[in-house]
Amino acid sequence: MAEPTPSGHTQAEADNHRTAAERRGDLLAAARMAQACAYAPYSNFAVGAAVLVGDGGIYRGCNIENASFGLTVCAERVALFQAVADGHLDIVAVALVTSSPKLCKPCGACRQVIAEFSQAGNPIAVLSSTLGGESALETIADLLPDTFTLL
Ligand code: THU
Repeated sequence: MAEPTPSGHTQAEADNHRTAAERRGDLLAAARMAQACAYAPYSNFAVGAAVLVGDGGIYRGCNIENASFGLTVCAERVALFQAVADGHLDIVAVALVTSSPKLCKPCGACRQVIAEFSQAGNPIAVLSSTLGGESALETIADLLPDTFTLL
């Protein structure tokens, strides 16, 4: 377990947070690009996500709905699964953008999936943003404390 810094955050948390802040513009641009691809004919609520990995690469995802509503997949999970399927378990940050004037943060299911890749002492930074640019930068541990784990 990594040691906490004086701010109460671990060094890995602080590093991911700083990197996410440095790449904020790239992450939000990628998430907006992904949002344009959202397939959301039922909710008309388009979401775009972007995942930053260890080598600096960014993977995009959008929400993909289905007539059988429960089969809908959120933008964050699509982006994360793209990264993992491309061999990346070193997830640094997840960003999401919606068109809501209200700041929307990842749903509970996506928080659990994000937490899955935070387990190896790698607390993922989560950047949530409105289209207008209002944003919050948190860690997954802030959003989902006491995560369920098997291992
Ligand atoms: N949605 C996401 O893509 N991410 C979230 O974190 C919450 C909700 C999508 C699912 C659905 O297509 C639409 O937003 C409305 O719930």
